[in-house]
Amino acid sequence: MRKTIPLSAGWQFLKKAASVQEAVEAAASGEAVCLPHTWNAVDGQDGGNDYYRGTCWYIRELSEEEAAGERLFLEVNGAAMTADVYLNGKMLAHHEGGYSVFRVELTEELAQKNILAISVSNEDCDTVYPQKADFTFYGGLYRAVNLISVPAEHFELLKDGTPGIKVTPVVDLETKTAFVTVETWHNAADVKITVNGETKTVEHHAEFTIENVHLWDGVDDPYLYTATAKLSSGDEVSARFGCRVFHCDPEKGFFLNGRSYPLRGVSRHQDLKGKGNALSYEDHASDMAIIRELGANTLRLAHYQHAQEFYDLCDENGIVVWAEIPYITMHMSAGRKNTLDQMRELITQCYNHPSIAVWGLSNEITAASAVNDDLLENHRLLNDLCHRMDPTRLTTMANVFMLEIDSPILEIPDINSYNLYFGWYLGELEQTDEFFDEYHARFPGKVIGFSEYGADANPAFHSSHPEKGDYTEEYQALYHEHMLQMIEKRPWLWATHVWNLFDFAADGRDEGGKHGENQKGLVTFDRQLRKDAFYLYKAAWNKTSPFVHLCGKRYANRAEEETEIKVYSNLRLALHRRYAPCKTDREDGVSLPYPADGRAPDRSSCR
Ligand code: GCU
Repeated sequence: MRKTIPLSAGWQFLKKAASVQEAVEAAASGEAVCLPHTWNAVDGQDGGNDYYRGTCWYIRELSEEEAAGERLFLEVNGAAMTADVYLNGKMLAHHEGGYSVFRVELTEELAQKNILAISVSNEDCDTVYPQKADFTFYGGLYRAVNLISVPAEHFELLKDGTPGIKVTPVVDLETKTAFVTVETWHNAADVKITVNGETKTVEHHAEFTIENVHLWDGVDDPYLYTATAKLSSGDEVSARFGCRVFHCDPEKGFFLNGRSYPLRGVSRHQDLKGKGNALSYEDHASDMAIIRELGANTLRLAHYQHAQEFYDLCDENGIVVWAEIPYITMHMSAGRKNTLDQMRELITQCYNHPSIAVWGLSNEITAASAVNDDLLENHRLLNDLCHRMDPTRLTTMANVFMLEIDSPILEIPDINSYNLYFGWYLGELEQTDEFFDEYHARFPGKVIGFSEYGADANPAFHSSHPEKGDYTEEYQALYHEHMLQMIEKRPWLWATHVWNLFDFAADGRDEGGKHGENQKGLVTFDRQLRKDAFYLYKAAWNKTSPFVHLCGKRYANRAEEETEIKVYSNLRLALHRRYAPCKTDREDGVSLPYPADGRAPDRSSCR
């Protein structure tokens, strides 16, 4: 039987580069830490762009019980950004890429006493992405590290961090039938595969038919099936899967299971105030609860592969996901292999998640690089890799607003999206509308989306005359009011993702009254405060929980005689619109609030 042993406690952490011998000898002088762990939880979030980027060591002795098992593997769910694994002083694995799972077999090197030493580095280099971007490149073993003991005959554990089982459901909506292909990788003679109560014994792969299939239908009904594979040795793996069909129409946008399903949502980085990116399952789950409260039906999980448990949460909650690798901002000619490695691992490890609809090739990669042959070829190779590994999903990329809409790079992915910040970094809000209308008019047969947009807001900053660049909650709300209306008039935008649902760490930033934070979030970095703009989208998207939100509650010191109270709600409200200070027009002298402009109270619905 397979046994998974979490190695969370008992690690000695050394914040220095050293040889493995030196590190093991110095282990006792290190800091006792538990995993998940990052060494940038503080300095990566406090501004100054001076967080520690270097090589550190994690050392742990394995107990006799932990080291038992016919075949013993180490599983690392996230080591940023590169890692070397040593057992008893011998190097067993090197991994490049800070966001994917990798495993290494320990069996042959086990001894009476077993010292595990993992060196992890987030120092800059020109071969591993990301190297230039607007977020902190935290270093550390920031996700779970496990031992996996399996019998001699077991499912594949090493190749690209594979789950050992791959499930491809193909749905015929006409007949409400799903044709499910299950492929497995193992070293046994045969395998028993079970889907929907039917079991087949095969060498490696089996086909199943599910009549009257229960669809995975987005947030309304994210139904999941489970495929299980079992060897006679007792080793067993399983994968949940969802049966759905989707496509993008250049004129009508995104379709799920044959119906128009505009993808309207947000982006998320995987970090939290005070914890860096060393998140617990509870942290992931509470983020998902906020996403469900907002009413988003899609997430762009930027700018890298997120934790498996978060894609699981998206599967369970019916959230359609844009998954991507951190090929970002600046193209590195020596980084081509790493982009292909990271994409191959992302698809190998995340293929079974029904929530994922698209693979993102890159983000604003022309922001700091010319569109040259090397960059174009890197994208062609990535695009081909995605199509070879996964013909069931679409490829896309998020383009920087400066990229000409007739750039050859836009010909590579299946569909495109732009990150636009008109009305924040430059220009006026209306230029967003003009940009998309020009693109759509010029390329009516091409699918286009809105992969990023946002404005920073510090909840302590307020103004009765909000303007671009003032970092006030009021301007952020006005910005998003415009964008929401722009989007609602353009159903052909296949997906739109607010940048960002949460404030996040960008240690190089020092603005808007905060050090080290990008404040475009609709929610603060500590998740404690929902800014007014959060409720604008909740009013537009949340169909299940009635609410009324009065904006400006934090705008305490107001100078004006007269003030505006803006209300966001998903209820159709009859509201008076404006009130002057009390003045009376009644014989009885009772003074009532009265419309400031003297007109009869304007009863209107409002968001
Ligand atoms: C870019 C980039 C983001 C960044 C954002 C911003 O679009 O893709 O990673 O955080 O701009 O400037 O806020």
